[in-house]
Amino acid sequence: PDVVPFYGEHQAGVVTPTQGRLAFAAFDVVTEDVQQLAAMLGRWSAAAALMTAGQSVGPVETAPQAPPVDTGEAVGLAPGRLTVTVGFGPSLFDDRFGLADRRPAALAPLPALPGDALEEARSGGDLCVQACSDDPQVAFHVIRNFARIGRGTVVLRWSQLGFGSTASTSTAQETPRNLFGFKDGTNNLKLEDRAAIDDAVWVGEESDQAWMRGGTYAVTRRIRMHIESWDADFLADQESVIGRHKLSGAPLGGSKETDVVDLAATKGGEPVIPAAAHVRLASPHTNGGIRILRRGYSYTDGIDAKTGELDAGLFFIAFQKDAHAQFVPLQRRLGQHDALNEYITHTSSALFACPPGLRAVGDWFGKGLL
Ligand code: HEM
Repeated sequence: PDVVPFYGEHQAGVVTPTQGRLAFAAFDVVTEDVQQLAAMLGRWSAAAALMTAGQSVGPVETAPQAPPVDTGEAVGLAPGRLTVTVGFGPSLFDDRFGLADRRPAALAPLPALPGDALEEARSGGDLCVQACSDDPQVAFHVIRNFARIGRGTVVLRWSQLGFGSTASTSTAQETPRNLFGFKDGTNNLKLEDRAAIDDAVWVGEESDQAWMRGGTYAVTRRIRMHIESWDADFLADQESVIGRHKLSGAPLGGSKETDVVDLAATKGGEPVIPAAAHVRLASPHTNGGIRILRRGYSYTDGIDAKTGELDAGLFFIAFQKDAHAQFVPLQRRLGQHDALNEYITHTSSALFACPPGLRAVGDWFGKGLL
């Protein structure tokens, strides 16, 4: 139960029930030799298979006069349902490797979106690795060893740790809470709803690139949450910003978390769930049926030196078939009208094509692409 199978039709770490902790990193490729990149991806694949099974990537006691192959800090720790998910960013498909005609249409860079305050140095990237585990040290061990294996081939571009899941992806899970204190993930896609997942998450025959079939696209957004202003806001206002009750998670007008969000209900001529409430604007019933799989984590990165406020928020991760048809129109709408905007700022953005799962030993990330 502590081990999530690494090999399969799809990569793990997408519909897998959310683990407690996240270590995420984006890398840029520094070699111009595509064979060197392929070899590194092969080594990453073998290492991921071992680490997710709870094993070291190689001996720690290599030889007294050589650096240990595995860095050692995960020895003796349970894998904690570790998953390792790899993706390719749009920039990998520029002229460097002759991959331009293999870039899926859906991997066009994300457009500028309303309210963006993006920091270039923590956005984008040629490759990404998402490591999720119930043990933060096990998740970090993956990023560190991928960087070690990739030395001379890739450099770290940015990384993000997450300390608490902000979404449930299975009906068997309790809904966690985000840093605003609200239950998050109630109306998320759940792995048990196979039809909805196939419809919204996994790339199918419609893709212009066969290598992406069975894959999915990840959007990451580092969303700073201005928790000091939020904490000074009245409870009733917080609830109308989200459109749900804080403690129970019930939609306004309802009494239980699982009650249907009734967007038509009115009281005294006013909508019970306000026009700018987050759940109204994000609902598939008001945006042409768009659904995404949310799988984000809370983060805190110390204090903002300029203001003395906490630099904390949501490292938003969403998986979907086509971010340009799902995340982009959704966020365009939220960025313009969402009452939450008073309390949040999007500070980084990235898009990655996550290829299908590795089938068996010998298969590797990017085999279908390179
Ligand atoms: C729902 C919080 C950003 C999409 C919710 C819910 C909360 C929440 C508390 C209600 C519980 C649930 O159904 O999961 C937040 C916070 C955000 C944020 C605090 C930023 C810090 C976003 C972004 C998107 C998004 C950027 C997509 C572009 C959704 C969707 C739902 C949802 C699709 C489900 C709506 C429904 O069908 O009822 N969010 N969210 N959220 N959110 Fe967010």
